[in-house]
Amino acid sequence: MITSVINQKGGTGKTTTAVNLASALVQKKKKVLVIDLDPQGNLSYSLGINDFDHSISDSLLQKKKISEIIVEREGIDIVPTNQQLSKLELGSRSKVSEFMLKEALKKVRGYDFILIDCPPSLSTLTLNALTASNTVVIPIQLDVFSIQGLEQIMDTIQEVKSSLNKKLKIAGILPVLVDGRKKLTSEIKDYVRHNFDVGLFKSEIRTNVKAAEAPSFGESVIKYAPSSNSAKDYLKFCSEYLRTMKKLS
Ligand SMILES: Nc1ncnc2c1ncn2[C@@H]1O[C@H](COP(=O)(O)OP(=O)(O)OP(=O)(O)O)[C@@H](O)[C@H]1O
Ligand SMILES: [Mg+2]
Repeated sequence: MITSVINQKGGTGKTTTAVNLASALVQKKKKVLVIDLDPQGNLSYSLGINDFDHSISDSLLQKKKISEIIVEREGIDIVPTNQQLSKLELGSRSKVSEFMLKEALKKVRGYDFILIDCPPSLSTLTLNALTASNTVVIPIQLDVFSIQGLEQIMDTIQEVKSSLNKKLKIAGILPVLVDGRKKLTSEIKDYVRHNFDVGLFKSEIRTNVKAAEAPSFGESVIKYAPSSNSAKDYLKFCSEYLRTMKKLS
């Protein structure tokens, strides 16, 4: 099962979700590969990878196999990135297609789950992720601007489904950075339920300082602060994710 974590809006918890869903899956004895498809390299950094010799861009350009660039942290296999990736996107159009990642992943075997952390854009890289994936998780903050952006994401997914990847399914929308005290939050949830033909996960990820601290220690929050609300929220989400994947497969 290949899942992209996407949202074209910046700072909506994509990387935090990819890291901690991966970590939670590993706790549940799943074999997991995570791909850092964001030239910012936040996911690689979050898991303490500062070795910039390895990059997914080499696999996209068919210079190296994915298995040659994997780095392991906390039991998670990671395909890191570096600045080359943004050059690839800006580079010669003839070399760049939406099928590069799908092609690179064809030879990858032995994983229960492959998670792809996408950049905050609906660019060629995100299209590569959507083309290679079976499912999509969309982390959003429950505010008005995020909801505005949701329409654009849905349109993009629809376009991908009608051309590049007919089998793509939306696993769900994951509310992140949730502040339970806000009345607006439940109103926005109702709005999403009524206006978008896609499920909201029941699990929510609350705002918690430990989630923000963990990346500077190069650890998932599940390892860094196992008893924190963030760790609990991501473990709970992981169970719901697994149930959803069963239904969708
Ligand atoms: N539950 C949380 N509680 C507190 N802070 C959080 C939480 N989740 C994420 N953060 C922090 O919010 C910021 C944005 O999160 P993250 O990097 O995961 O978002 P992103 O969508 O990947 O961003 P980008 O669009 O730049 O890739 C980070 O500093 C992160 O540590
Ligand atoms: Mg990110």
